[in-house]
Amino acid sequence: MSDEYRKKIGEHELSPESLMMGYAYRPEWSEGALKSPIFQTSTFTFSSAAEGRRFFEIAYGLDEADPGENTGLIYSRLNNPDLEILEQRLTLWDGAEAGLVFASGMAAITTTMLTFVQPGTVVVHSAPVYGGTDHFLHETLARLGVERLEWDPGTSIDDLDAAVDGRRIALVFLETPANPTNDLFSIAEARAFADRHSTEDHAVPLVVDNTFLGPLWQHPIDHGADLVLYSATKFIGGHSDLIAGAALGRRDLIDPIAELRTILGTMATPLTGWLMMRSLETLALRMRRQADNAQVVADFLDAHPKVSSVGYLGFIEEGDPAMATYRSQCLGPGSMISFWIDTDLEGAFRFLDSLQLIHLAVSLGSTESLIEHPATMTHAGVDPEERAMLGITDQLVRLSVGVENPDDLIVDLASALDKI
Ligand SMILES: Cc1ncc(COP(=O)(O)O)c(C=O)c1O
Repeated sequence: MSDEYRKKIGEHELSPESLMMGYAYRPEWSEGALKSPIFQTSTFTFSSAAEGRRFFEIAYGLDEADPGENTGLIYSRLNNPDLEILEQRLTLWDGAEAGLVFASGMAAITTTMLTFVQPGTVVVHSAPVYGGTDHFLHETLARLGVERLEWDPGTSIDDLDAAVDGRRIALVFLETPANPTNDLFSIAEARAFADRHSTEDHAVPLVVDNTFLGPLWQHPIDHGADLVLYSATKFIGGHSDLIAGAALGRRDLIDPIAELRTILGTMATPLTGWLMMRSLETLALRMRRQADNAQVVADFLDAHPKVSSVGYLGFIEEGDPAMATYRSQCLGPGSMISFWIDTDLEGAFRFLDSLQLIHLAVSLGSTESLIEHPATMTHAGVDPEERAMLGITDQLVRLSVGVENPDDLIVDLASALDKI
């Protein structure tokens, strides 16, 4: 289903912010309902057996769709109006050709990677990455005979050229900024690397997990990514009330991922799709307010004597090699702050236990501020030596700044820091 309905006024292209309320949906499809209903149905009736046969031919790739012919609605593991409308809306932010939504960010990541890997191939990935992704790369893919090459913040991706050693690269995966440290990786450099290792019969896909900055503050496709992935649980959902994921990008890469999503059953539910559409209407408002608040909070933390270091994209200095990457691919510093407290594990826990407004909970990107301790929580499963090398120490806490009044956030942080 593709819909250019009301996307332009004359020659003027409307921005995603203006299109989130109605794009890809027509009230006449649903008794004039201004909002798309929740299509809470497992299956769809065919008007004839021949129609059912045709829908399956297209959905299963047994025949090419004729120009303008859409895949009909079949069964909610394959397609559902709420998911299709949502997928089209999501493509607008990243300028993607096509999109898919999933049951979780991990469902988006794992279904995408499984589409492209084979035993003996290599996944080249940035590090650190979210703990669940780390586990999938180190444990699950290893069991399937898929190898890894790691790009960490201290090195250049060019250093990996020799290590490839003639092996076939299944895909290059970046998580930038990295969870939990906010380290940046250059999408353009990864693009050049992927191209250097592509052959005539195999173009290496570049996949970027854009959860920390997207969809407002970074658009990886503009810098050479083929696919953009999200934990939509975070800024896209934005209210800590749903779990979802998304993959957006080139149609020829999205199609095989859609096929595997159908087989694995990793799609989102209609209700989750509907909730995400509601969330998208305020995405830009929320993300801007969160970013404004984060600037105020980061300044406070930076000046605090008990905070030894603040990892916030707004603090990258001239002369730091990360500055070139920030300038070329980030549209703003976002609202994730990692900071290291001048204390030990017990002191870090006392600080976390003393907060009253900021919630001690994993996840991020929500309207309420959330704080967590990566070394013992989201990244507890990462190899301890690797954790230390990547700066995920007992002193590190990760703060996702919400939409509260920033003065209240500062009072909460100041009084908890006083308890150390
Ligand atoms: C960067 C990043 N990617 C992926 C995920 C996984 O998303 P989900 O929890 O929606 O499966 C997370 C979760 O925290 C994350 O932070």
